[in-house]
Amino acid sequence: MQIRPIHASDADFATWYEVYLAARVADNPTGPQWLEPELKVIYQGTEYRSVQLWLAEDDGRAVGAAVLVLPQRDNLTMAEPEVFVRPEDARRGIGSALLATVDEASKAAGRSSQLLYIEAPLGTDRTAGMAFAERHGFTRRIGEIMRVQRPPFDLDAVAAAEEAARPHAEGYRIVTWRDHAPDEFVDEYARLEGRMSTDEPQGGIESEPEVWDAARIRTAERRSDLMRRSTWVAAAIAPDGSMAGVTEITVSRDSDAIGFQDATIVDPGHRGHRLGLLLKAANLRELLADRPGVQSVWTWNADVNTHMIAINETLGYEIAGWSAAYQRTI
Ligand SMILES: CC(C)(COP(=O)(O)OP(=O)(O)OC[C@H]1O[C@@H](n2cnc3c(N)ncnc32)[C@H](O)[C@@H]1OP(=O)(O)O)[C@@H](O)C(=O)NCCC(=O)NCCS
Repeated sequence: MQIRPIHASDADFATWYEVYLAARVADNPTGPQWLEPELKVIYQGTEYRSVQLWLAEDDGRAVGAAVLVLPQRDNLTMAEPEVFVRPEDARRGIGSALLATVDEASKAAGRSSQLLYIEAPLGTDRTAGMAFAERHGFTRRIGEIMRVQRPPFDLDAVAAAEEAARPHAEGYRIVTWRDHAPDEFVDEYARLEGRMSTDEPQGGIESEPEVWDAARIRTAERRSDLMRRSTWVAAAIAPDGSMAGVTEITVSRDSDAIGFQDATIVDPGHRGHRLGLLLKAANLRELLADRPGVQSVWTWNADVNTHMIAINETLGYEIAGWSAAYQRTI
Protein backbone atom coordinates (compact mmCIF):
# COMPACT_ATOMS: atom_id res chain seq x y z
CA MET A 1 0.00 0.00 0.00
CA GLN A 2 1.28 3.45 -0.93
CA ILE A 3 0.21 6.86 0.30
CA ARG A 4 0.84 9.91 -1.88
CA PRO A 5 -0.15 13.56 -1.67
CA ILE A 6 -2.53 14.93 -4.29
CA HIS A 7 -4.07 18.33 -4.92
CA ALA A 8 -7.74 19.23 -5.37
CA SER A 9 -7.00 20.54 -8.88
CA ASP A 10 -5.43 17.17 -9.98
CA ALA A 11 -7.39 14.71 -12.12
CA ASP A 12 -6.88 12.30 -9.16
CA PHE A 13 -9.35 14.30 -7.11
CA ALA A 14 -12.25 12.43 -8.79
CA THR A 15 -10.82 9.18 -7.33
CA TRP A 16 -10.24 10.84 -3.94
CA TYR A 17 -13.90 11.94 -3.90
CA GLU A 18 -15.12 8.44 -4.86
CA VAL A 19 -13.35 6.91 -1.83
CA TYR A 20 -14.55 9.75 0.44
CA LEU A 21 -18.16 9.29 -0.65
CA ALA A 22 -18.09 5.48 -0.35
CA ALA A 23 -16.74 5.72 3.22
CA ARG A 24 -19.17 8.44 4.27
CA VAL A 25 -22.24 6.81 2.77
CA ALA A 26 -21.36 3.49 4.46
CA ASP A 27 -21.41 5.20 7.89
CA ASN A 28 -24.23 7.68 7.27
CA PRO A 29 -26.37 6.58 4.30
CA THR A 30 -29.13 9.16 4.84
CA GLY A 31 -26.95 12.19 5.61
CA PRO A 32 -26.26 15.11 3.26
CA GLN A 33 -23.05 15.07 1.20
CA TRP A 34 -21.01 17.69 -0.64
CA LEU A 35 -21.07 17.39 -4.42
CA GLU A 36 -17.68 16.72 -6.02
CA PRO A 37 -17.32 20.17 -7.66
CA GLU A 38 -18.16 21.81 -4.30
CA LEU A 39 -15.59 19.84 -2.33
CA LYS A 40 -13.02 20.48 -5.05
CA VAL A 41 -13.37 24.21 -4.39
CA ILE A 42 -13.37 23.81 -0.58
CA TYR A 43 -10.17 21.78 -0.78
CA GLN A 44 -8.37 24.35 -2.92
CA GLY A 45 -8.01 26.10 0.46
CA THR A 46 -7.90 29.85 1.05
CA GLU A 47 -5.45 32.23 2.75
CA TYR A 48 -7.45 31.51 5.93
CA ARG A 49 -7.36 27.71 5.82
CA SER A 50 -4.76 25.60 3.97
CA VAL A 51 -5.63 22.07 2.81
CA GLN A 52 -3.52 18.95 2.12
CA LEU A 53 -4.88 15.73 0.59
CA TRP A 54 -3.55 12.17 0.33
CA LEU A 55 -4.65 9.08 -1.57
CA ALA A 56 -3.85 5.52 -0.40
CA GLU A 57 -3.45 2.94 -3.21
CA ASP A 58 -3.05 -0.80 -3.16
CA ASP A 59 -1.69 -2.19 -6.44
CA GLY A 60 -2.86 1.00 -8.16
CA ARG A 61 -6.39 0.69 -6.72
CA ALA A 62 -7.54 3.60 -4.53
CA VAL A 63 -8.48 2.29 -1.07
CA GLY A 64 -8.22 5.30 1.26
CA ALA A 65 -8.22 9.08 1.34
CA ALA A 66 -7.22 11.73 3.88
CA VAL A 67 -7.46 15.48 4.27
CA LEU A 68 -5.79 17.90 6.66
CA VAL A 69 -7.09 21.45 7.12
CA LEU A 70 -4.81 23.95 8.88
CA PRO A 71 -6.28 27.28 10.04
CA GLN A 72 -3.90 30.10 9.05
CA ARG A 73 -5.21 33.20 10.87
CA ASP A 74 -6.34 31.79 14.22
CA ASN A 75 -6.09 28.40 15.94
CA LEU A 76 -2.46 28.06 14.81
CA THR A 77 -1.90 25.02 17.06
CA MET A 78 -4.96 23.22 15.63
CA ALA A 79 -5.12 20.65 12.80
CA GLU A 80 -8.38 19.24 11.40
CA PRO A 81 -7.81 15.79 9.88
CA GLU A 82 -10.31 13.39 8.26
CA VAL A 83 -9.61 9.85 7.11
CA PHE A 84 -11.74 7.70 4.78
CA VAL A 85 -11.37 4.03 3.83
CA ARG A 86 -13.45 2.11 1.29
CA PRO A 87 -15.80 -0.14 3.31
CA GLU A 88 -14.53 -3.30 1.56
CA ASP A 89 -10.95 -2.45 2.62
CA ALA A 90 -11.75 -1.71 6.29
CA ARG A 91 -9.79 -3.15 9.24
CA ARG A 92 -6.56 -3.63 7.24
CA GLY A 93 -4.73 -0.75 8.94
CA ILE A 94 -5.21 1.65 6.02
CA GLY A 95 -7.00 4.28 8.13
CA SER A 96 -4.25 4.11 10.78
CA ALA A 97 -1.52 4.47 8.12
CA LEU A 98 -3.26 7.51 6.65
CA LEU A 99 -3.67 9.04 10.11
CA ALA A 100 0.08 8.53 10.77
CA THR A 101 0.84 10.44 7.55
CA VAL A 102 -1.52 13.22 8.55
CA ASP A 103 0.09 13.35 12.02
CA GLU A 104 3.52 13.96 10.51
CA ALA A 105 2.13 16.81 8.43
CA SER A 106 0.30 18.23 11.47
CA LYS A 107 3.50 18.20 13.54
CA ALA A 108 5.58 19.59 10.65
CA ALA A 109 3.17 22.56 10.60
CA GLY A 110 3.70 23.08 14.34
CA ARG A 111 0.25 21.86 15.36
CA SER A 112 -0.29 20.21 18.74
CA SER A 113 -4.03 19.49 18.69
CA GLN A 114 -6.31 17.63 16.26
CA LEU A 115 -10.08 18.06 15.98
CA LEU A 116 -12.45 15.94 13.90
CA TYR A 117 -16.18 15.29 13.58
CA ILE A 118 -18.04 11.98 13.34
CA GLU A 119 -21.58 11.81 11.88
CA ALA A 120 -24.22 9.11 12.23
CA PRO A 121 -27.86 8.61 11.30
CA LEU A 122 -30.73 8.29 13.75
CA GLY A 123 -30.74 4.92 15.51
CA THR A 124 -26.95 4.37 15.29
CA ASP A 125 -25.11 5.05 18.49
CA ARG A 126 -21.66 3.78 17.49
CA THR A 127 -19.83 4.05 14.16
CA ALA A 128 -16.52 2.73 12.82
CA GLY A 129 -15.26 6.32 12.91
CA MET A 130 -15.93 6.60 16.66
CA ALA A 131 -14.16 3.33 17.42
CA PHE A 132 -11.26 4.38 15.21
CA ALA A 133 -10.97 7.85 16.80
CA GLU A 134 -11.10 6.42 20.34
CA ARG A 135 -8.55 3.74 19.43
CA HIS A 136 -6.21 6.60 18.41
CA GLY A 137 -6.65 8.57 21.64
CA PHE A 138 -9.27 11.10 20.59
CA THR A 139 -11.92 11.90 23.21
CA ARG A 140 -15.47 13.09 22.65
CA ARG A 141 -15.87 16.82 23.40
CA ILE A 142 -19.44 17.70 22.38
CA GLY A 143 -22.47 16.08 20.77
CA GLU A 144 -24.64 17.76 18.14
CA ILE A 145 -28.07 16.81 16.85
CA MET A 146 -28.60 16.91 13.09
CA ARG A 147 -32.07 18.08 11.99
CA VAL A 148 -33.67 18.37 8.58
CA GLN A 149 -36.57 20.37 7.22
CA ARG A 150 -38.35 19.06 4.11
CA PRO A 151 -41.37 20.05 2.00
CA PRO A 152 -44.17 20.75 2.43
CA PHE A 153 -42.86 23.86 4.24
CA ASP A 154 -45.67 25.25 6.37
CA LEU A 155 -45.28 28.97 5.70
CA ASP A 156 -48.61 29.74 7.41
CA ALA A 157 -47.35 28.24 10.67
CA VAL A 158 -44.07 30.16 10.21
CA ALA A 159 -46.03 33.42 9.69
CA ALA A 160 -48.10 32.76 12.84
CA ALA A 161 -44.91 32.20 14.88
CA GLU A 162 -43.47 35.44 13.46
CA GLU A 163 -46.65 37.34 14.32
CA ALA A 164 -46.38 36.19 17.94
CA ALA A 165 -42.67 37.11 18.06
CA ARG A 166 -42.81 40.55 16.43
CA PRO A 167 -44.04 42.56 19.47
CA HIS A 168 -40.90 41.41 21.34
CA ALA A 169 -38.62 42.92 18.69
CA GLU A 170 -39.89 46.47 18.45
CA GLY A 171 -37.32 48.86 16.92
CA TYR A 172 -35.39 46.13 15.10
CA ARG A 173 -35.63 45.75 11.33
CA ILE A 174 -34.86 42.60 9.36
CA VAL A 175 -32.86 43.00 6.13
CA THR A 176 -32.14 40.19 3.65
CA TRP A 177 -29.68 39.67 0.82
CA ARG A 178 -28.39 36.93 -1.42
CA ASP A 179 -24.75 36.00 -2.10
CA HIS A 180 -23.12 39.40 -1.60
CA ALA A 181 -23.41 41.38 1.66
CA PRO A 182 -24.18 45.04 1.00
CA ASP A 183 -21.07 47.15 1.77
CA GLU A 184 -22.93 48.97 4.56
CA PHE A 185 -23.36 45.69 6.50
CA VAL A 186 -20.18 43.76 5.77
CA ASP A 187 -18.11 44.85 8.81
CA GLU A 188 -20.90 44.09 11.25
CA TYR A 189 -21.60 40.81 9.46
CA ALA A 190 -17.93 39.84 9.92
CA ARG A 191 -18.06 40.75 13.60
CA LEU A 192 -20.99 38.36 14.14
CA GLU A 193 -19.38 35.58 12.04
CA GLY A 194 -16.37 35.80 14.36
CA ARG A 195 -18.62 35.44 17.39
CA MET A 196 -20.00 32.15 16.01
CA SER A 197 -16.77 30.43 17.01
CA THR A 198 -17.17 31.51 20.64
CA ASP A 199 -20.90 31.95 21.27
CA GLU A 200 -22.05 28.61 19.90
CA PRO A 201 -21.77 25.99 22.67
CA GLN A 202 -18.26 24.50 22.47
CA GLY A 203 -18.53 21.75 25.12
CA GLY A 204 -15.02 20.49 25.80
CA ILE A 205 -13.55 21.60 22.45
CA GLU A 206 -10.34 23.54 23.05
CA SER A 207 -10.09 26.22 20.37
CA GLU A 208 -9.55 29.94 19.91
CA PRO A 209 -12.00 32.49 18.51
CA GLU A 210 -11.87 32.76 14.70
CA VAL A 211 -10.65 36.07 13.33
CA TRP A 212 -13.13 37.52 10.79
CA ASP A 213 -13.12 40.80 8.89
CA ALA A 214 -14.72 42.16 5.71
CA ALA A 215 -11.95 40.67 3.54
CA ARG A 216 -12.66 37.19 4.95
CA ILE A 217 -16.37 37.61 4.20
CA ARG A 218 -15.54 38.56 0.61
CA THR A 219 -13.22 35.53 0.29
CA ALA A 220 -16.02 33.25 1.55
CA GLU A 221 -18.47 34.83 -0.91
CA ARG A 222 -16.05 34.32 -3.82
CA ARG A 223 -15.57 30.71 -2.77
CA SER A 224 -19.34 30.11 -2.68
CA ASP A 225 -19.56 31.55 -6.19
CA LEU A 226 -16.88 29.13 -7.38
CA MET A 227 -18.77 26.30 -5.66
CA ARG A 228 -21.91 27.42 -7.51
CA ARG A 229 -23.77 27.74 -4.20
CA SER A 230 -26.12 30.60 -3.39
CA THR A 231 -26.44 31.98 0.13
CA TRP A 232 -29.56 33.59 1.56
CA VAL A 233 -28.85 35.85 4.52
CA ALA A 234 -31.22 37.61 6.95
CA ALA A 235 -29.83 40.13 9.44
CA ALA A 236 -31.48 42.08 12.27
CA ILE A 237 -30.49 45.74 12.49
CA ALA A 238 -30.80 47.34 15.94
CA PRO A 239 -32.16 50.86 16.46
CA ASP A 240 -28.55 52.17 16.75
CA GLY A 241 -27.65 50.68 13.33
CA SER A 242 -25.50 47.81 14.66
CA MET A 243 -26.19 44.24 13.58
CA ALA A 244 -28.03 42.36 16.33
CA GLY A 245 -28.21 38.96 14.63
CA VAL A 246 -27.75 37.06 11.41
CA THR A 247 -28.66 33.70 9.81
CA GLU A 248 -27.66 31.99 6.53
CA ILE A 249 -28.86 29.16 4.28
CA THR A 250 -26.87 27.89 1.27
CA VAL A 251 -28.16 25.80 -1.66
CA SER A 252 -26.41 24.66 -4.83
CA ARG A 253 -27.34 26.64 -7.94
CA ASP A 254 -27.48 23.34 -9.83
CA SER A 255 -29.56 21.17 -7.51
CA ASP A 256 -32.53 21.53 -5.16
CA ALA A 257 -31.55 18.42 -3.20
CA ILE A 258 -29.57 19.79 -0.26
CA GLY A 259 -29.64 23.09 1.60
CA PHE A 260 -27.49 23.85 4.62
CA GLN A 261 -28.61 26.11 7.44
CA ASP A 262 -25.27 27.73 8.33
CA ALA A 263 -24.51 30.18 11.11
CA THR A 264 -27.30 31.73 13.16
CA ILE A 265 -26.27 34.15 15.87
CA VAL A 266 -27.89 36.83 17.99
CA ASP A 267 -25.47 39.21 19.70
CA PRO A 268 -25.64 38.68 23.51
CA GLY A 269 -26.79 42.27 24.11
CA HIS A 270 -29.81 41.70 21.86
CA ARG A 271 -31.03 38.33 23.10
CA GLY A 272 -34.56 37.91 24.45
CA HIS A 273 -36.24 39.71 21.52
CA ARG A 274 -37.12 36.54 19.54
CA LEU A 275 -34.71 37.67 16.83
CA GLY A 276 -33.53 34.09 16.21
CA LEU A 277 -37.00 33.02 15.15
CA LEU A 278 -37.72 36.23 13.20
CA LEU A 279 -34.42 35.91 11.30
CA LYS A 280 -34.88 32.26 10.43
CA ALA A 281 -38.51 32.74 9.39
CA ALA A 282 -37.64 35.70 7.10
CA ASN A 283 -34.74 33.80 5.56
CA LEU A 284 -36.80 30.68 4.90
CA ARG A 285 -39.46 32.78 3.16
CA GLU A 286 -36.82 34.45 0.95
CA LEU A 287 -35.26 31.11 0.11
CA LEU A 288 -38.58 29.52 -0.87
CA ALA A 289 -39.61 32.56 -2.93
CA ASP A 290 -36.44 32.10 -5.02
CA ARG A 291 -36.18 28.31 -4.86
CA PRO A 292 -39.63 26.77 -4.24
CA GLY A 293 -38.37 23.30 -5.15
CA VAL A 294 -35.79 22.95 -2.33
CA GLN A 295 -35.95 19.37 -1.01
CA SER A 296 -34.11 19.61 2.32
CA VAL A 297 -32.43 22.06 4.67
CA TRP A 298 -30.02 20.53 7.21
CA THR A 299 -28.83 21.99 10.47
CA TRP A 300 -26.62 20.97 13.40
CA ASN A 301 -27.09 22.14 16.99
CA ALA A 302 -25.22 21.25 20.15
CA ASP A 303 -27.50 19.01 22.20
CA VAL A 304 -27.28 21.61 25.00
CA ASN A 305 -28.47 24.46 22.74
CA THR A 306 -32.11 24.14 23.80
CA HIS A 307 -33.12 27.64 22.70
CA MET A 308 -32.01 27.23 19.07
CA ILE A 309 -33.51 23.73 19.01
CA ALA A 310 -36.90 25.10 20.13
CA ILE A 311 -36.77 27.64 17.26
CA ASN A 312 -35.91 24.91 14.75
CA GLU A 313 -38.77 22.74 15.95
CA THR A 314 -41.21 25.65 15.56
CA LEU A 315 -39.96 25.96 11.96
CA GLY A 316 -40.63 22.28 11.26
CA TYR A 317 -37.17 20.71 11.58
CA GLU A 318 -37.07 17.02 12.55
CA ILE A 319 -34.24 14.99 14.06
CA ALA A 320 -32.25 13.07 11.42
CA GLY A 321 -29.06 12.01 13.20
CA TRP A 322 -26.18 13.29 15.28
CA SER A 323 -22.55 14.26 15.09
CA ALA A 324 -19.81 14.54 17.68
CA ALA A 325 -16.55 16.44 17.95
CA TYR A 326 -13.44 14.46 18.94
CA GLN A 327 -10.13 16.03 19.90
CA ARG A 328 -6.65 14.88 20.95
CA THR A 329 -3.24 16.32 21.69
CA ILE A 330 -0.41 15.14 19.43
C1 LIG B 1 -12.87 5.09 10.45
C2 LIG B 1 -12.17 4.49 9.23
C3 LIG B 1 -11.28 5.57 8.59
C4 LIG B 1 -11.30 3.33 9.72
O1 LIG B 1 -10.48 2.85 8.65
P1 LIG B 1 -9.76 1.41 8.76
O2 LIG B 1 -8.76 1.33 7.67
O3 LIG B 1 -10.80 0.36 8.83
O4 LIG B 1 -9.03 1.56 10.17
P2 LIG B 1 -7.87 0.60 10.76
O5 LIG B 1 -7.89 -0.72 10.06
O6 LIG B 1 -6.61 1.37 10.74
O7 LIG B 1 -8.40 0.43 12.26
C5 LIG B 1 -7.61 0.77 13.40
C6 LIG B 1 -8.38 0.42 14.66
O8 LIG B 1 -9.55 1.27 14.78
C7 LIG B 1 -10.61 0.50 15.41
N1 LIG B 1 -11.70 0.30 14.46
C8 LIG B 1 -11.76 0.70 13.16
N2 LIG B 1 -12.96 0.34 12.63
C9 LIG B 1 -13.67 -0.27 13.59
C10 LIG B 1 -14.97 -0.86 13.65
N3 LIG B 1 -15.77 -0.86 12.56
N4 LIG B 1 -15.37 -1.39 14.81
C11 LIG B 1 -14.59 -1.39 15.89
N5 LIG B 1 -13.34 -0.87 15.90
C12 LIG B 1 -12.88 -0.31 14.77
C13 LIG B 1 -9.99 -0.84 15.78
O9 LIG B 1 -9.41 -0.69 17.05
C14 LIG B 1 -8.92 -0.98 14.71
O10 LIG B 1 -7.88 -1.87 15.09
P3 LIG B 1 -8.08 -3.47 14.84
O11 LIG B 1 -8.61 -3.66 13.45
O12 LIG B 1 -6.71 -4.00 15.03
O13 LIG B 1 -9.07 -3.91 15.87
C15 LIG B 1 -13.22 3.97 8.20
O14 LIG B 1 -14.11 3.12 8.86
C16 LIG B 1 -14.02 5.08 7.55
O15 LIG B 1 -13.64 5.56 6.48
N6 LIG B 1 -15.16 5.53 8.17
C17 LIG B 1 -15.96 6.66 7.65
C18 LIG B 1 -15.26 8.01 7.85
C19 LIG B 1 -14.86 8.27 9.30
O16 LIG B 1 -15.65 8.19 10.22
N7 LIG B 1 -13.55 8.61 9.50
C20 LIG B 1 -12.99 8.78 10.84
C21 LIG B 1 -13.07 10.11 11.34
S1 LIG B 1 -12.21 11.29 10.41
